[in-house]
This record gives sequence, C-alpha cells and structure tokens, in this order.
Amino acid sequence: MTTITWRKPRVLLLLGFFFGITLLYLIAHNRYQIQNTLSYATRPLWDKDSGPKHVVTHYYAEGVKMDAQTCELHGWKPRGNVQKLRVLDAVLMSSELDLLEIRLHELDSVVDFFLIVESNATFTGLPKETYFAKNRERYSKFAHKIVYQFLPGYPLEGARTAWNVESETRVAMSTLLTEQMHKFPSDTKNLVLMSDLDEIPAEHTVRLLKACDFGNSIHLQLRNFMYSFEWYLGYSSWRASAHIWNYNSYYRHSKSTEVILADSGWHCSYCFRSLEEYIIKMRGFSHADRIGGRLNLLDPKRIQDTICKGRDIFGMLPEAYSYIELFSQLNLDPLKTAVGLPRYLVDNADKFKFLLPGGCKREL
Ligand SMILES: *[C@@H]1O[C@H](CO)[C@@H](O)[C@H](O)[C@H]1NC(C)=O
Repeated sequence: MTTITWRKPRVLLLLGFFFGITLLYLIAHNRYQIQNTLSYATRPLWDKDSGPKHVVTHYYAEGVKMDAQTCELHGWKPRGNVQKLRVLDAVLMSSELDLLEIRLHELDSVVDFFLIVESNATFTGLPKETYFAKNRERYSKFAHKIVYQFLPGYPLEGARTAWNVESETRVAMSTLLTEQMHKFPSDTKNLVLMSDLDEIPAEHTVRLLKACDFGNSIHLQLRNFMYSFEWYLGYSSWRASAHIWNYNSYYRHSKSTEVILADSGWHCSYCFRSLEEYIIKMRGFSHADRIGGRLNLLDPKRIQDTICKGRDIFGMLPEAYSYIELFSQLNLDPLKTAVGLPRYLVDNADKFKFLLPGGCKREL
C-alpha cells in the first residue's frame, strides 16, 4: 500500500519532467515561428500603418486628356512650361529582369532618363550577381536613355550595418541624379520618380504628374500584388513617390509628405520567374530571422505550392494593420481579371505567363 502511494507521485513527476522538457524543446525549436505569430497576430493592436494620410482621388479612363480640366479634378493647376520638365526614373537594381523590362516599356513614353544603380553585393554585404550588367543587351532598345552606375559592394566590416550600406546606395543614386541634371539647361525642372524596381508607376499617372502642378512631392499609392498579378493584397503600397527635385532633395524610399495619389500603379512583390530566385531571396541575410533554422522552407516543392495557393512564403501570418485585412489576406482568392495591368505585360502575355492569373507554375 505504502509503496504504491509512494511511487505514484514519482511517476507523475517523471512524466511532468519529460513533458516540460519536450515543451521547452518545441518552444526553442519554433522560437521564430512563435515570436512571429504573436507579433503579427497582435500587430493591429499596437501598430499603425505609417503611410501618408491625405489621399488624392485619382481620375482616369482610357483616352482622358491630361488638360486643365483633368488637373482641376485633382485640385491642381496645369503646369506652365511643360517642355522644360525632364522626367527621371530612378531605381536600385534587383534581380527582377522581367519587371525591369515591363517597367521600361510602361514608362518609355513619359520618362526621359532611366537611372539604374547596381551593386555586386547585397545591403548585408553578401556577393550578388550584377543582373543588369549581365543582361544589358536585353534592354538595348532603351540604351540611349539608361544611365547606369555600378557600385562596388564589400562584406560588412566593423560597425557598418546593412542600414549604412542602404543609405550609401541611396546617396550614390542622389549623386547620379544631380550629375544627370547638370547636363540639362539650367531652367529645367526635374520630376524624379523614386521607387523600388518592383513598384511600377502607371504611364498615365506620370502623364498626369507632368501636366499638372501637384506641388513638390507626392506619394504614389500602388495596387499591391504578391508572386504575380494573380494575388492582390489591396492598395497598401505607398513608398513610391514623385518629386520635383530641389537643392535639398535626396533619393529616398520613406515618407516625404502626407499626400498620396490613389491607384497610381502596381507593386509586385516576390514576382520571380524561377523557384531558384525565391530560394536566393529567402536565403538573403535580412530574412534569416524569418527562416529561423526552418530549412524545409527552402524546399522548391513547398515554395511552388505556396505560390499556387497564395500563402505566405515563410509560412507566416500576413503583415496587416487591421484584423479585417489580416483575415482577408490569410485566405486570398486568385484574381480572374488581368484588366488594368501594364500594357506590355498583356501584349506579351505568353512571355510573362508566370505573372498572370493561372500562371503560378514556376521553372526551377
Ligand atoms: C565587387 O566588385 C569590386 C570591384 O570590382 C570587388 O573589389 C569586390 O570584391 C566585389 N564584391 C563582392 C562582394 O564580390
């Protein structure tokens, strides 16, 4: 009798001990996942979308003239001396050769110069291919208006951080921009489009901004897509901007004004042609915290499946600022429309199948 009552708690203790160890092991092993789930699931409670607040309603239909009346609709005056305006589109090169081709064609008729800065290292100092330099002939049609600068990159050393490298890269672009502007007559006004390569302003948006005096600076609200134009996330992209350059301007990807023009173009994140590009991007040091040792995330079959289902590539909750947004992004419906996309993409649907609805299959 006594032996049994004496043994029972010991067994329970042992069980409890193993249970505790297993729990600790699971928590340690899935630390990133748990941290992420907690922070993303509660984000609507503690974080606010930091984008510009004053949204200018955007009016456009095919064939609309960019005249005084259209400017007035937006609350703007027509610009005098449009012929003295130069438009410069400035991007830091990434690996997205297809999006660059679509961008150049979309903006060709409204942009005077395309400025491209490219490094052979990532912001985190890892070696990286110089995609533009290696594929230059693909863009030969635009060679006369491309201003390219190679920026040598090195591994991070000492106190230098990715943040430092990114800001140095943006300074290099500012310098390239001012050098280019010095070649223009001194009474030239320079309209600079500042955005990432995967943030593409619509041609008609730039036509509007050329015709109308929108002020010094305006952000461009973009339709936000993931993987391709099949997965639409909403109008949540705001970092792209248009800017009339002045003596204290600099190339930036942060908020410069509270004013933003609605529905101004497209932002296609993770819109890669091959699974290999996804793996390279996911391996990138800045995302190491997201991988968190879960190397199975890099399995090409799993990535392919994720793309076709419109799920998060890191198996995470979506980054959303309200619960409505969060739940709607958790279960996206694939779009059945390819209306209102960049013209060149639709004209060349066969070449860019992977970017269009129903084209989720990627090459290896
Ligand atoms: C980038 O190129 C420069 C000059 O060509 C070279 O010195 C440097 O080592 C390269 N950086 C990387 C990370 O490969």
